[in-house]
Parts: sequence; C-alpha cells; structure tokens
Amino acid sequence: KRPPASIIFIFGGSGDLNYRKLSPALYNLFLDNYMPENFAIAGIGRSPYDNGAYRERLLDGIQKFSRRKGEQNGHWADFSQHITYLQMDAEDRAAYSAITDFVKAKEEEWGVHPNVIFYLSVAPQLMPAIAQKLGSLNLCSDKHSTRIVVEKPFGHDLQSAHELNELLLSMFSEEQIYRIDHYLGKETVQNLIALRFANALFEPLWNRNYIDHIQITASETVGLEGRGGYYENSGALRDMVQNHILQVMCMIAMEAPVSFDANEIRNKKVDVLNAIRKFTKDKIHENAVRGQYSAGWRQGKQMPGYREEKGVDPESATETYAAVKFYVDNWRWQGVPFYVRTGKNMHQKATNITLQFRQAPHYAFPAESAETWRPNRLTISIQPEMDIRIRFQAKRPGQSMELDPVEMVFNFDRQYGDDHAPEAYETLLLDVMEGDATLFMRADQVEAAWKVVMPILETWESRTPVDFPNYAPDSWGPEDADALIARDGHAWINLPK
Ligand code: BG6
Repeated sequence: KRPPASIIFIFGGSGDLNYRKLSPALYNLFLDNYMPENFAIAGIGRSPYDNGAYRERLLDGIQKFSRRKGEQNGHWADFSQHITYLQMDAEDRAAYSAITDFVKAKEEEWGVHPNVIFYLSVAPQLMPAIAQKLGSLNLCSDKHSTRIVVEKPFGHDLQSAHELNELLLSMFSEEQIYRIDHYLGKETVQNLIALRFANALFEPLWNRNYIDHIQITASETVGLEGRGGYYENSGALRDMVQNHILQVMCMIAMEAPVSFDANEIRNKKVDVLNAIRKFTKDKIHENAVRGQYSAGWRQGKQMPGYREEKGVDPESATETYAAVKFYVDNWRWQGVPFYVRTGKNMHQKATNITLQFRQAPHYAFPAESAETWRPNRLTISIQPEMDIRIRFQAKRPGQSMELDPVEMVFNFDRQYGDDHAPEAYETLLLDVMEGDATLFMRADQVEAAWKVVMPILETWESRTPVDFPNYAPDSWGPEDADALIARDGHAWINLPK
C-alpha cells in the first residue's frame, strides 16, 4: 500500500544530506513503488538553481550514493518530473508564501489535500527561525496532515534542546514532529526488537543474572569529510553518543513492549534513559575517556591530525573519540556495565554490540583445556557486516576432551541476498509519509538523552585536555580507553574485518 499524496519540502535542499541521503532514499522508494501516486519534492535553498540544474545535481548524488546504481535509466526521467527547486531565503517571512502557493497548486492539480512535510536539514542555528515561520502558516495547524521533520543535532545541550522543543511544541503538536535519529531506521537496529521479543530463547537470559557486561562500538575510518565547522562545535559525545549510541543502548536494555504503538515503544526507551546512572563530576574521570586523532598514516597514506583539518582550531579541545562506561540502575541491569565507544579515523568501520555472558559456574573438564574456556557471547553486527553470532564452547574432534570457542552465525546477506535492505532514510521517509512516529524521537526522549551526557560534557568543557592528540589514525583509540575497561578485567572486543 502506498502512502497518501504528499509534498516534501526540504529545507537545506542544496545541502549535503539531501544530495547524499535524502534524494537517493526517495528515489529508491520510487523504484520500489513506495512513493505515493501523487507526490512532489521541493528543495528549498539559497543557492541559485533552475529546476533542470537542480535535478541534474540530485541525479549526480543518486548515481554516487544510491544502493541501486545502474537502475536509473528510464525511471529517472519519470521521477525527476516530481522535483522542483524553490530558491528562497528561509529567514525572510514573505518568501514563505511560495510554499503556500505551491501547496494550493498541487491541491488543485491532484484534487486532494496532501500531506505537507517540512524536512529541516539545516544548520542548528537556523532551525528556530524556520520553525517559527512555518508555524505561523495556516496549513501548519492541520495536525493530521502537516508534519515537520527535524534533523540532528537536536540542540547543543540540554538547555538548547529544551528550548527547541518548547518552540516546536508552541507551533506544532507532538504528533506532527518527527525528530530524526537515522540509526533507528537501520534494518539491523530494528531487528534488535525482533531478536529480543519474537524469540523465547534470548529474553530469559537477557539480564544481570546471566550477562556479565555489554559493549557497543561504533567506530569509523573517516575523518571530518569537510565538516570541520560543524564538528568542531560538536565532538564525538554530542555527534554519536547522545543520539545514536544511546538509542541503540535503549533497544538493548528496554523492557518488552506490550504493543507496537509508537508511544509504547518510546515509553520503554525513556525508562532506560531515565535509569542510566548520572555521574557526579568526581566520577567522570573513572567512567569516561576522550580522545583526539593525531597526524599519521593510513594504508601508506599520510593523514592530517584533527587540529590540522579545515575549520578546526589548531589548539582544539574537541574530542573525536569517546568511551563511556554506563550503568542502568534498574532490576534487570543493576551492576552490569555497558561499555560504549565511538571515534573518527579509527582502524575499522564497524558498529556492533556484544553481550558477554557470565562464565559457566563450574569447569568439570580436564584442567589443560581450561585455557581455551571462554564465556559465551552474543554479537550483533549492525554495519557494514550485518550478522548475529553466538560464541560457545565445543569439543574439538579427537580422543581427548579438548574444548574450543566456536561460532554460530546468521548473516543477513547470505539469507536474503545483498540488495534486500532499505537504507535507513528510506524507512524513515516512508514512515513520515505514512504518519508512523515509532522510530522517531519524542521530546522527552531527546531531553532524557541529553541529561545522560550533560555531566560528562560539562566536566570535559571545564577542563582542557592535557594529552590531545592521543591516538593515531588507523588505531583503536587512546590507551586510556583500554585502561578504562581493563580496570574491570575486560578488553574491548575488536571483531576481525
Ligand atoms: C552522523 C554523524 O549522525 O552519523 C556523523 O553526524 C557520522 O559524524 C554518521 O559519520 C555515522 O552514520 P553511519 O550511518 O555512517 O554509521
């Protein structure tokens, strides 16, 4: 079933996110027959384009970034007819009449009142002004069919996120607001819910009685990719932990939902965020480590250090790596550490989650074989590998009772082929057109996540790091992060490439 007629206005229409992610996602939805019968996409920006040049630019992005390379021919001509460019200054109130006129014209052409979706993919400082001007348009009072999608970063800290929420909620109702965290649209992240709550096998073990600790890694090999201006004011904790990593952690730690109702799932996630222990300032040092990459080498190529990147202060104190040990203070997770880490310019691009189980209580096998006795592990790889693996002990074939850790693997690509998975933005854009907010962040959810990271941010900001830069490109991050986990007798799990 296709969603109802929709107009998508993209603020930041000439920007990078639209070029790399949104247009390719909309195009893939079109190829898969998920776009409504009547739809229009209007890119809004200040750069001068006519429709033809604008469509050409988007086609370029699609050819580079769509997962369906090679299928453009024929369909593109069709799809591109739905794309318009509106050159306007989003800070000029009078310019917004172009939006109202556009909606009216489409309404007349299609003979139905369409969904009107405003996608805000703009610098955070522009968001309030745009939201305010949109909010005063008559069509925004239509709670049923007008929606606003807000890209990250949602605020710069708790205070600014709260203010942005207040502003949005003074103009729109919560049901109209779709706060994006694109990790929630990833197939493998959504599959966490299926794994946990559609099986009887895992859930009984999914608690402090059986799990020793949990690790979440989101490492990247890329550096700044030309985003120095943004990143310098953000850093790894704001860019990845406050949103993506905490959301993944919620999926791992949440209680079973009673239904798939958007608010039911979000309530369960908010419970987790509220239960995460808030560190007092004197505890930050023991529980959180920051890093910044130095100049160095990657595959024989010389790489600049963070402080030499464009748009970065040569004495920058911004972290490009963060590792934190969290605790979730509730019945299920009391005392179980969640070690999370993320960084730019690291050895491997990999997002994965490992639940390490407690060691079996007694070892009845010959003492010599105890050396290879390992605790069970369940590892869920989100990307680029998409698989789930269970590590367990098996008897090595032979006349003696020698044991080895072995793995049982479910691989998505092997099961479903490698072109099965919609990109995160495809899923999320379709959800917006359909009016399903389950995978989007509610106001209280965003603020609860900010509350978790604020003590760390404030402590870090009040103390200039003395050891930056402290990790080399193509490495696994700073030594202090190894020490953080080693203090508890563990080590980071680096999966082979
Ligand atoms: C974005 C961050 O939200 O997520 C980027 O701003 C980061 O810095 C990106 O690179 C990672 O997303 P993905 O989907 O490539 O893991």
